[in-house]
Amino acid sequence: MEIVSASIRDLAALHRLERACFDRDGWPLIDLIAVLTFPDVVRLKAVENGTMIGFVAGDPRKSEGFSWIATIGVLPGYRRQGVGRKLLRTCEELLRTPQVRLSVRASNLNAIRLYKQEGYATLDVWRKYYADGEDAIVMEKARRANVI
Ligand SMILES: CC(C)(COP(=O)(O)OP(=O)(O)OC[C@H]1O[C@@H](n2cnc3c(N)ncnc32)[C@H](O)[C@@H]1OP(=O)(O)O)[C@@H](O)C(=O)NCCC(=O)NCCS
Repeated sequence: MEIVSASIRDLAALHRLERACFDRDGWPLIDLIAVLTFPDVVRLKAVENGTMIGFVAGDPRKSEGFSWIATIGVLPGYRRQGVGRKLLRTCEELLRTPQVRLSVRASNLNAIRLYKQEGYATLDVWRKYYADGEDAIVMEKARRANVI
């Protein structure tokens, strides 16, 4: 498995991965195009035998001092093998802001466990953030002070 930059050529594969990973929160095509093309966005894919098995995107907001992990997903058949952790760590390294934030469904305990292991702590709760009324947990990780 290797982790490499993604580009607009990965649109179809990302669309498939999104549908496999997010039954309720899949992005519309326009957002997938945006995440694969907007300047400054860190976009990485995990590839095994030529297939995209995972994806992460991070949006750096340097003037605010933090980045957002916009999305992260690993195909069901490839989970629990360290791919998500490796994608997250590689993305954080490339984002280079003092803090990194993300939001996650309150019920997504597997993802929350990963984020806690990786040093994220709860910063806020956005009540009824999702369309079905579920809360979002906002988590933040403080990084080394000298990353900028
Ligand atoms: C969350 C997700 C990206 C994790 O990817 P992954 O490749 O399976 O993660 P890893 O193998 O690196 O696992 C890292 C840690 O996550 C946690 N974790 C992941 N899946 C878990 C599970 N099924 N049960 C318990 N803990 C789990 C564990 O803490 C695990 O560490 P461990 O294996 O040492 O116990 C993946 O489950 C996924 O794509 N889920 C659907 C999309 C999603 O919810 N994305 C996050 C939105 S905020």
